[in-house]
Amino acid sequence: MSEEQWGAVDRYITGHLVPSDAALDAALASSAASGLPAINVAPNQGKLLHVLARSIGAKRILEVGTLGGYSTIWLARALAPGGKVVTLEYDPKHADVARANIERAGLAHLVDIRLGKAIDTLPKIAAEKGEPFDFVFIDADKSGNADYFAWAMKLTHVGSLIIVDNVVRNGAVIDANGDANVQGARRLYEAMAKEPRVSATAVQTVGSKGYDGFAIAVVIA
Ligand code: SAH
Ligand code: DHB
Ligand code: MG
Repeated sequence: MSEEQWGAVDRYITGHLVPSDAALDAALASSAASGLPAINVAPNQGKLLHVLARSIGAKRILEVGTLGGYSTIWLARALAPGGKVVTLEYDPKHADVARANIERAGLAHLVDIRLGKAIDTLPKIAAEKGEPFDFVFIDADKSGNADYFAWAMKLTHVGSLIIVDNVVRNGAVIDANGDANVQGARRLYEAMAKEPRVSATAVQTVGSKGYDGFAIAVVIA
């Protein structure tokens, strides 16, 4: 099975179920034109985030890693009335591109972009003592995954979903001597495994973004 075939099947799936639209297309085009890396979620994964957030009626969504705001748009469109996405990004250029993309999508009033390293902004968000988040999408530097997961546990409630992207890394996750990204993914599995307050699993994916996967946890206590 080739990457070419994974891409073709992704095109078949998205052709039926994930219609693109002007705002999503423009978000990807402007991200590319601004030189951002094309590491946004695939359209069908963006739709999966949307379906999951919508299925739990998410009103407060936290995203770690905004890039050009492509996944942010999928999440903001899933919000229940009165909801908000808080998204964390440390690169000011990425945040600027995202702000314009989110504005163009008509979602600026629903999205709060917090500039700074997530490890610094997460404690600030906790200190604000706002309502807990219903849904957390972790997709920033992979070395921080276990830390971001620990913060997600502080910032959520029973029933919240926590999704972590890129936890398979072309299969390299089973290599105990893998690179920093792999080590970050492996620390996440260890942290999730020993956290009694979640029920979690992970799923391998192939498609237009290659071979990777995501972890999903529901807070149970
Ligand atoms: N969620 C996006 C993709 C995010 S790519 C999408 O699917 O469309 C990862 C992003 O995390 C990049 O923009 C990168 O600049 C940002 N990032 C990396 N390390 C970070 C950190 N320590 N704190 C906050 N953002 C970080
Ligand atoms: C990388 C990051 C991502 O979030 C992703 O989905 C794919 C690749 C990366 O840093 O290589
Ligand atoms: Mg990712």
